[in-house]
Amino acid sequence: MNVHGLASSFTALGAAAVLSALLIACGGGSTGSAANTPSDAALLSQPRAAPSAESVAVGDLLFHDTRLSAAGNLACVTCHVQERGHADADGVFLPLGGLALDQQGLRSSPTLNYLNENRAFAFDAEGRPSGGFTWDGRADTRAAQALGPLLASNEMAHANSASVVARVRTLPYFAQLLSASALAPTAPDAKVLEALQLALEAYQAGDIDYQPYTSKFDAVQDGRVAFNAQEARGLAIFNSPQRGNCASCHSSTPAAGQSRALFTNFGYFALGVPRNRSTATADPAFFDMGLCGPVRTDLSHRKDLCGKFKVPTLRNVALTGPYFHNGAVASLQEAVSFYATRDIDPARWYPVVNGVVDKFNDLPVAYRSNVEQQAPFGLQPGQPPKLSLQDVQDLVAFLQTLTDGFVP
Ligand code: HEC
Ligand code: HEC
Repeated sequence: MNVHGLASSFTALGAAAVLSALLIACGGGSTGSAANTPSDAALLSQPRAAPSAESVAVGDLLFHDTRLSAAGNLACVTCHVQERGHADADGVFLPLGGLALDQQGLRSSPTLNYLNENRAFAFDAEGRPSGGFTWDGRADTRAAQALGPLLASNEMAHANSASVVARVRTLPYFAQLLSASALAPTAPDAKVLEALQLALEAYQAGDIDYQPYTSKFDAVQDGRVAFNAQEARGLAIFNSPQRGNCASCHSSTPAAGQSRALFTNFGYFALGVPRNRSTATADPAFFDMGLCGPVRTDLSHRKDLCGKFKVPTLRNVALTGPYFHNGAVASLQEAVSFYATRDIDPARWYPVVNGVVDKFNDLPVAYRSNVEQQAPFGLQPGQPPKLSLQDVQDLVAFLQTLTDGFVP
């Protein structure tokens, strides 16, 4: 943790807290709470003040502490590694967790960076879903989200929240957690659990490591360096509505109220990514359909949302493989190639069954029409590609400028 970053992130968090309070006041903020326990109601209804340095510091200790898991073998940082943009460790396909670290997770661990501007899940005026935490937005805040991994049997595997609190009470810095939350040692379990959740959120919201803005892209924005020719070509393709069209979802300019581009609009789309072959032996009848379930449970009637997952930020994307919600694609070059060739060369991505390409094979047939067809998609096999191999390489070169820690 680095105290110097605190001041700059205070304003962003203050704005986010005020906005999410407004969303909740308008009735839009309470839909995504499938995993929430009763104690979350209070957590979600209160706008959050800027985190104190003390909460950030104790949240830092908690995030790195394997004693938080039931078997004492897994910390938040195990799946959210700082050197990888707080995403999966190098070479990990889908995260392993559980009491014996032998349970494979369903989804790739996303980056935890640059989430301060993310709001609670809601539908906008046009009925489009946006915001929320996890790939399907079912947690309204990072504090609410934190209970998920602690209780998931394939992650930190506590049987219930009483077991989590009992463990927290044994930590050598428990007194520090109480003091950061202005609690007495006699505080009831519900308050201790809330303090744990808020400290984990404070750490992610207030520590500079989660929003450093030190990429080459930022240095170019600040006029300190220039892109090379290939990176500049990549950015032009990224922004062009006729070619990559990437910026229509992965915003390359700051939205209203933001000071920097976040490379996501926090919206939801179905890209039809292929099934992860490493889980091919798993139940063939099981489909992870994002917003419409089955992990998320409150939108199961909305079949038009099946297959839709949250647009992730592309900041640090060169570090955060494997790619897409199911980790189906290992390298960044392949992830970008998927956009270029999904429709003109589907056999490259999907199995051929009885001579027919089983396109969008990670979705039941009934919902495959939800899959996005706008540029760079929407071509027929044999049509000239919107993105050449050179374009893909230029896009990758540009995406590499989004890695933090750039030294001119
Ligand atoms: C076993 C690996 C694992 C562990 C341990 C783990 N996570 Fe995660 N994390 C994930 C996965 C996988 C997801 C995506 C979950 C989903 O979409 O349902 C995720 C999602 C998240 C998100 C949502 C990010 C976003 O873009 O919306 C946050 C925040 C988060 N984790 C924080 C934590 C914290 C805090 C801890 C410790 C209490 C933790 N994680 C422990 C694997 C893990
Ligand atoms: C219609 C909206 C949309 C457009 C256009 C779009 N993306 Fe995405 N992008 C998404 C969504 C949604 C995901 C997550 C999908 C999933 O995991 O199922 C994603 C995921 C990604 C990922 C994987 C990130 C990760 O952390 O796993 C990369 C890389 C990426 N996009 C790059 C691009 C590039 C390059 C372009 C332009 C050629 C582009 N995207 C255009 C919506 C879009």
